[in-house]
Amino acid sequence: MSVSAGEEALPGRSGGKAAAPELFAGIADGYERRGAILSFGQDPRWRRILVGLAPVQPGAETIDVATGTGAVASGMAARYSCRVVGVDQSAQMLAHARGRLAERGLSERVELVRAEAERLPFEDARFDALTVTYLLRYVDDPAAVLGELVRVLRPGAPFASLEFGVPPWGLARGVWRAHTNLGMPALGLAVGGRPWLEAGRFLARSIPDFWDRYPLGELLRLHSAAGLVDVRAIRPTFGAAVIISGRRGAV
Ligand SMILES: C[S@@+](CC[C@H](N)C(=O)[O-])C[C@H]1O[C@@H](n2cnc3c(N)ncnc32)[C@H](O)[C@@H]1O
Repeated sequence: MSVSAGEEALPGRSGGKAAAPELFAGIADGYERRGAILSFGQDPRWRRILVGLAPVQPGAETIDVATGTGAVASGMAARYSCRVVGVDQSAQMLAHARGRLAERGLSERVELVRAEAERLPFEDARFDALTVTYLLRYVDDPAAVLGELVRVLRPGAPFASLEFGVPPWGLARGVWRAHTNLGMPALGLAVGGRPWLEAGRFLARSIPDFWDRYPLGELLRLHSAAGLVDVRAIRPTFGAAVIISGRRGAV
């Protein structure tokens, strides 16, 4: 496996396209389990909420962008008996996704495709639902990427996205700040060694940085501008996550 990103490999803006490839090459192994520990079990819960917001009929074809190790893709396939195309740019994450899908007996229902969210290799309006998790901080132009995601969605089909957020009020924000600045890097080091220490440090900068540039109102506006209607947000765990849902409007 490749080594993780060192400080020098991460851009000053703590996000954007340059940050992703090395970072995820280093943490693909044990990603879901360690992510769950670092978030005190919240991360799997947020994904379950997300899956619940993208309902489809059995046999429908859905897409999960930035699928990583395939956690959301598996959740969709298991919950709705649908077919899922899981897309990610990282060969290492997709290799782990392949293993996880086989363990869960879902390999037949989930197809994995290596591609960039900026240029999805699918025709317009192909999919019956779209899910996307923790992608936007790793792209240079979130508005353009959201437009590309909506392009492949059938009019009327559900869309659900999950990102980290920043709790809006005093005490929760203080606890959250202590956890992201100190707890996450320290826990990361304890459960996953240096690659996870770096991932924890990266997120401690990236989450507030992204939130400053794209606060909730702006995120909602971008989702609507991309062509979604009925756009709404829920903010579980005191706002540590933001889950935005909607459906593609008429074309
Ligand atoms: C934090 S992980 C999230 C993985 C998964 N969605 C989950 O629920 O845990 C972010 C994923 O986005 C992928 N990624 C980052 N930038 C991307 C891009 N431009 N196109 C496709 N995948 C991208 C990374 O390779 C990584 O697997």
